[in-house]
Amino acid sequence: MSHKIQTLSGYFHEYQKSVTNPEAFWARIAESFHWKKQWDKTLEWNFEEPDVKWFVNGKLNITENIFERHLYTKGDTPAIIWEPNGPNEANRIVTYRELYEMTNQFCNALEAQGIQKGDRVIIYMPMVPEAAVAMLACARIGAIHSVVFAGFSSSSLADRINDCEAKMVLTSDGNFRGAKQIPVKAVVDEAVENTPSIEKVIVLKRTGEEVVMKEGRDVWWHDAIQGQSSEYTAKEMDSEDLLFILYTSGSTGKPKGVVHTTGGYMVYSEYSFSNVFQYSQGDVYWCTADIGWITGHSYIVYGPLLAGATTLMFEGVPTFPHAGRFWEIVDKYKVNQFYTAPTAIRALQVYGLEPIAPYSLDSLKVIGSVGEPINEEAWHWYHDHIGKGNCPLVDTWWQTETGGIMISALAGITPNKPAHASLPLPGIQPVIVDAEGNELKGNNVEGNLCIKFPWPSMLRTTYGDHEKCKNVYFSAYKNMYFTGDGAKRDHDGYLRILGRVDDVINVSGHRMGTAEVENAINEHPKVVESAVVGYPHDVKGQGIYAYVICDMEGRTEESLKQEIKDTVRKIIGPIAKPDMVQIVPGLPKTRSGKIMRRILRKVASKDISNLGDTSTLLNPEVVDQIVEGAGLK
Ligand code: PRX
Repeated sequence: MSHKIQTLSGYFHEYQKSVTNPEAFWARIAESFHWKKQWDKTLEWNFEEPDVKWFVNGKLNITENIFERHLYTKGDTPAIIWEPNGPNEANRIVTYRELYEMTNQFCNALEAQGIQKGDRVIIYMPMVPEAAVAMLACARIGAIHSVVFAGFSSSSLADRINDCEAKMVLTSDGNFRGAKQIPVKAVVDEAVENTPSIEKVIVLKRTGEEVVMKEGRDVWWHDAIQGQSSEYTAKEMDSEDLLFILYTSGSTGKPKGVVHTTGGYMVYSEYSFSNVFQYSQGDVYWCTADIGWITGHSYIVYGPLLAGATTLMFEGVPTFPHAGRFWEIVDKYKVNQFYTAPTAIRALQVYGLEPIAPYSLDSLKVIGSVGEPINEEAWHWYHDHIGKGNCPLVDTWWQTETGGIMISALAGITPNKPAHASLPLPGIQPVIVDAEGNELKGNNVEGNLCIKFPWPSMLRTTYGDHEKCKNVYFSAYKNMYFTGDGAKRDHDGYLRILGRVDDVINVSGHRMGTAEVENAINEHPKVVESAVVGYPHDVKGQGIYAYVICDMEGRTEESLKQEIKDTVRKIIGPIAKPDMVQIVPGLPKTRSGKIMRRILRKVASKDISNLGDTSTLLNPEVVDQIVEGAGLK
């Protein structure tokens, strides 16, 4: 039974039902899935602890809802269309039956290598069908996957492995990324030197480059599946059993392992996918994210496959070998729904309209945006030149923690408004609150964005540290989940997301904790202290600006700046490399020693018009020196 909303009045009707009786609403949707045992109770919750359980005591396996549920009707339908990084390499089209068999075979391989229900498995892989196979096989045998974006450094990888005490890493020899080849196995080798829990590393041959295989620990993927049966009976999982952990940055120095569980995540990822993108059977859907992020989990793998959709997976980058690659792929596969990030749009906008011209984009029915606020200029460019003015543009607001899209237009059903995520999905109850936590009702209000009622795919905890989950998300406002974002409800009642209100910056749609970058900078032996802020960046949305106090002996300013950038690249990965480093004599501090980030943010964004009263600072003179050092005086 499809739960796809078809009309605007249908949306309002469903929304009303979902808030009047959320349990009945979600139970009806969950019934369309295959459960080995029906749940006893739809929802148990309190936001104090927090303790949230959906479909209590229900038993299922999420992959049976992808495979067994679809095989009769969709065995020969493409599940994954894979486009390689290099346009001259052959593509791959993997049908539901083939994906099922590959997954089963890999389930048997994982078990043969010692993985059991409940074990944690790290996936550090390129964008190839085997990465989806790896996730699905973990889910099918009941292991908990944690995908780590393959651009993270060895020490970031090691931190994540150690935090969840993973037993295995799944990786490749190397990755192709545009014109570059990245020696991924070497990164894993370095990481696992410091991870006592790792027993096995399974290596997919992708680039063919030479790698060192450690006897007894490292196994080639092709050897691991050799002789394994392509039949496997999915393990029975409890609705609240962990499905995956995904690490994300927050305002604390260390990334948190966001935990998602099986039943609720399944129901919501499919429901939101089908409704937001208005997917129809036979459509080709393409999300350009990486599986290392939540978008790749929910809207490349789980949501589309649960819906029986054809999901396109692209290994490469938007500008290789030319700036029209995205549009070439849309034309090649007649893509119907296209979902990308504002940073990609802005990067491509720079090349003008020429790269688009050779390709037909007529197949597109829906275009989408995710990851950061989309500025109006990029919205119009995307809408006019890619959507040709007649595709709904869904601006989807959500987070790693929410598991699925929370606020967005439903394509072609609810209205679009530039730069507005617009309306909540059925079942989602957003509220805007003031600093004291009072709900700001009505239109034309602005404040912090919270959610006041549970939804099926919400995070359940942060792995190994439930207190952290409670403190970060459920303590700021009583009985509410706090998103960390500011929002405005405009005069028409549409929601506009204003960006983070905490110490998190959003660089090219990737979340970075300022404290995390500072910790990395401080590892450099010459660094005394640092402060990192975000500033507006034309392509990335926000750039990383680092103010650093250094011991300059034996260094030039330029060499030191470069060393600091390299340190961050090495410790976290290239995505965290500061765009700007300013060496400063001091940092503006309050008398209690707190860094005045507001001043640093203003200087970084070249706005010194209103720095406020600096006379109460511990060291007011430093503000002038910083302004001067930034070249603004
Ligand atoms: O600030 C919001 C921004 O991205 C944050 C979540 O980042 P992450 O967990 O990495 O997930 C990104 C993909 C879902 C949010 O707190 N964000 C995400 N989507 C939007 C957005 N900001 C404005 N508009 C959006 N559509």
